[in-house]
This record gives sequence, structure tokens and C-alpha cells, in this order.
Amino acid sequence: MDPPVNQMSARRACVIGSPIAHSRSPLIHGYWLQTLGIPGSYDKIEVKPGELAEFFASMAEKGFVGCNVTVPHKEEALKLAQRRTARAEEFGAANTIWIENGEIWADNTDSHGYEMSLDQEAPGWDTARRALVLGAGGASRAIIAALLRRGVERIDCVNRSVERAEALAALFGSKVHAARFEEAPVLMKDADLLVNTTALGMRGKDPLVLPLETLKTDALVSDIVYVPLETDLLREAKARGHRIVGGLGMLLHQAVPGFVHWFGATPSVTPELRAILEDDVRKAGG
Ligand code: ATR
Repeated sequence: MDPPVNQMSARRACVIGSPIAHSRSPLIHGYWLQTLGIPGSYDKIEVKPGELAEFFASMAEKGFVGCNVTVPHKEEALKLAQRRTARAEEFGAANTIWIENGEIWADNTDSHGYEMSLDQEAPGWDTARRALVLGAGGASRAIIAALLRRGVERIDCVNRSVERAEALAALFGSKVHAARFEEAPVLMKDADLLVNTTALGMRGKDPLVLPLETLKTDALVSDIVYVPLETDLLREAKARGHRIVGGLGMLLHQAVPGFVHWFGATPSVTPELRAILEDDVRKAGG
């Protein structure tokens, strides 16, 4: 049977990566399409390493107006795109792609997503003057950029491999200082904001071992891990009376700009959407 007329012109978007089965992006965009009454679709598509160029070349022909990009294609997507936003250039990786006037555009919305998640869940957070950031990978880079943008005056970045923290400090300039992971308890004394950007504490990964005794009582604690929804770090911080922000908000807010490009409407991160994602994470044992 032919699809109804309104679905024939429906816009298609997707998330690509490998593996892709566990991506929660379809849940997010599917909710927005449904609640906004937009006749579009959002699928997940396995694109194996080495197959990205082929996917990009056939994207428009397949009817896609764009996609999200996840592991392992984020760096290559930036290179293959014909146009890049300044922030995608800055981060050296893309997570959001769209076609405009026949050209493929690449954007990176992680930093924006983190900033929006703190704005929504910890209003006033940007009065923080000092932050301690655990980790020095791609996520750390996006988060440090967000903190600097919002006026944090000093950021201590600690990492298992201190040279990666040093590279970030060199990249960002005098407000970012590198240190070894073991120095975290001392650096914590002056921090108004503590952020975990590593995968430590994620289900199936090593635990994050970090006593919080030295953390100021009014410090905010944020963790980008969202499986489990409440990591050991967040649980301990909550028990000690700290304000906490989990990682689900960053996932939800980083999705907004892509939706705007593909479907032409600005979606909201509502409590209902958050609850749907939380249920899904719990079902997966998180
Ligand atoms: P992402 O893009 O998610 O930030 P990444 O660039 O691979 O991923 O960075 C992962 C971060 O988690 C790094 O800071 C990494 O520390 P190293 O640079 O020393 O590898 C940190 N990390 C991952 N596993 C870790 C572990 N078992 N102990 C300490 N840090 C770990």
C-alpha cells in the first residue's frame, strides 16, 4: 500500500555509527516528532568503519536531510563535510550533520548540550569561579569550552595520562591548568564545580574512586555518565548535601540543534521526555 501523502514528503534523519544498536537518539527525536506532530522519521543506521564516505555520498539520494554521528566516525565526519561550523572546527569532531544547498554541513553540539543541561538543572551554576574537571578526552574539551564561555575563571584538569591534560591546558590558555589525577583531592578544596568527563563509573567500566571529603559543601557535582542514572560519584555527592547534575541532560540537549536543522522546529527537553529516557536506561540495567 502507498504511504499517505503527508508521509511521502516526510523528512528523514538518522544516527550513524558502529555499533549503533544501543543509541538512544531515536527515542529522543521520535518523541519530538510525535509530540510536535511533524511527519518525519529518525532511524539508526549501522555504518561500519571505512563506510562513512559512501554513506555521505548517498545520503541525499536515500532521502536523508541529515544525521547524528557517533563512534567511530566523529572525526572523519568533520573531515568529509564540505562545510563546518566554527565550534565543530574547534573541537575537531562532528556529531551533527545536515545538507544545505547540496552541501554537507558538520556541527558539534556537545559543548552547547552540556551548558544547556546545567542551565536547566542547576540554574545559577555559572557563578562558579573554579572548576575541577576529571578527564582530558573529547568530552572534557567540550565541557572546558562551555565552562570558559560562561565565565569560570580557573579550571584544573586532571587526567590519568597527564600529557593529555597538558595538551588541553596549552590549547585553552592560562585559565586551564593540568595536573595528575592523584592531585584531585587537593585541587577539590577550592572547586565550586566538580565534573567527571571520563567513562569511570559507567556500568561495565572501572569505578571512579574519589573521596569527596575535601569538597566545599556548596560545590556542584556533575557527571556526564548516565548509565547508571545516578553514578556512585553523584550518590555520594548527594548524600553529602551537594547539588548534583547527571549526564542525561547533556545527551538530551545536544540533540536539539540537529532537530532544528532537519525538521525546522525547536523542540523542548521536557520532564516527560526525560522520564522516557530514564525508563529506557533503567530497563537496560542502569
Ligand atoms: P571521550 O570522547 O568520551 O572524552 P576519550 O577521548 O577516549 O573519550 O577520553 C576518555 C577519558 O576517560 C580520558 O580522560 C581517559 O584518560 P586517559 O587520557 O588517561 O586515557 C579517561 N579514562 C578512561 N578510562 C580510564 C581509567 N580506567 N582510569 C582513568 N581514566 C580513564
